[in-house]
Amino acid sequence: MTKNRAVAYQGPGVVEVVDTEFPAFELKDGPGVNPANIGRKVNHGVILKTVATNICGSDQHMVRGRTTAPVGLVLGHEITGEVVEVGPDVEFLAVGDIVSVPFNIACGRCRNCKEGKTGICLNVNPDRPGSAYGYVDMGGWVGGQAEYVLVPYADWNAPKFPDRDQALEKILDLTMLSDIFPTGFHGAVTAGVGVGSTVYVAGAGPVGLAAAASAQLLGAAVVIVGDLNEDRLGQARSFGCETIDVGAGSVPDQLEALLGVPHVDAGIDAVGFEARSQGHGAGAVEAPATVLNALMAATAAGGAIGIPGLYVTDDPGAVDEAARAGALSLSLGTGWAKSLSFTTGQCPVMKYNRQLMMAILHDKVEIAKAVNAKPIPLEDAPRGYAEFDAGAATKYVLNPNGYLPL
Ligand SMILES: NC(=O)c1ccc[n+]([C@@H]2O[C@H](COP(=O)([O-])OP(=O)(O)OC[C@H]3O[C@@H](n4cnc5c(N)ncnc54)[C@H](O)[C@@H]3O)[C@@H](O)[C@H]2O)c1
Ligand SMILES: [Zn+2]
Ligand SMILES: [Zn+2]
Repeated sequence: MTKNRAVAYQGPGVVEVVDTEFPAFELKDGPGVNPANIGRKVNHGVILKTVATNICGSDQHMVRGRTTAPVGLVLGHEITGEVVEVGPDVEFLAVGDIVSVPFNIACGRCRNCKEGKTGICLNVNPDRPGSAYGYVDMGGWVGGQAEYVLVPYADWNAPKFPDRDQALEKILDLTMLSDIFPTGFHGAVTAGVGVGSTVYVAGAGPVGLAAAASAQLLGAAVVIVGDLNEDRLGQARSFGCETIDVGAGSVPDQLEALLGVPHVDAGIDAVGFEARSQGHGAGAVEAPATVLNALMAATAAGGAIGIPGLYVTDDPGAVDEAARAGALSLSLGTGWAKSLSFTTGQCPVMKYNRQLMMAILHDKVEIAKAVNAKPIPLEDAPRGYAEFDAGAATKYVLNPNGYLPL
């Protein structure tokens, strides 16, 4: 039988590359698999040989022990792959196709999927609406930081690249279509970014950088990125963003120094619940509501805030009891008084996947450069997780099968 290798969560701070089962057209029992999903037939699936699979800040929440992810969970929701086996119910994909895999697993048949809300599909996760590969509370679909992975409802969930050679040539850009490019773009779209907008992006991790590049693509007049990490701010400046160090003063004051007014038209939270008010590592002060409160203060009346940053309902490492259950101390009065609107949740990647693919293929955006994509071998995943956790200004792309230029 063909073997498989995959990145597994082994407890707080620890990931290992382990031997795992080769995928079958059935969801088997394993760490994190919802009992109601065990034995589920997946004749509508394909098995992919992974071409590229990225490490994400969302994975880091689990690896830092900030979720209830079980030990042994195979990680990985940012997947691009080559079809090597086709389930009997798949009509439109064939062996040899190179496909992008939006991280949201969706059935394509339910009420939400029909409305394009693929981040809250009703049929794939018995725990709650919405699912993803290799993620806690997402039904137990096996992660794709692996040599091989199963993709269910593949005619729907695995959009095919038009040309194999062209796809492999731009693969470091195209791999960002599985999550962070659409996610950053969704953040910008839902913040109302358009031609001439002024934009503040909180967070210069890969999602924040993707949001900043997206805001530029949408025609923003100025994009300001805030973080506490100087290397990441330097990365934002490398493609024309202004930057602020959020530890150096209030966000509105620093915006005023740049724009002449203490607010922007559009705000984006690319940080999430592990937001800090200052510092790194041991000296860091965590303040889970700080980014949302700063964005409400810094977004002009009538504006909108896109919130791709992740917030959870169960955080074992929270700063206080309320935050443990996801209840944060928000100045909603500020938001209400300014008639701000908010968009949260998983990005419905499918909604943007094709248009952003076209932007990449036709050289309208250099997303791999913006996020500083770096391929590393699958076996080096523990090092990639550690460096990313330490704040490297790098988007790590795992290369399990040698497709990528190392
Ligand atoms: N909604 C979605 O569909 C979706 C998809 C992908 C990722 N995400 C989430 O987006 C968030 C960002 O992902 P990432 O991969 O870029 O993670 P990341 O951890 O690499 O980046 C977060 C950045 O925020 C910075 N930060 C911390 N406190 C801050 C503050 N007060 N102000 C400004 N910056 C601050 C950190 O220094 C870090 O650089 C995560 O919460 C991730 O789970 C959501
Ligand atoms: Zn991701
Ligand atoms: Zn659905």
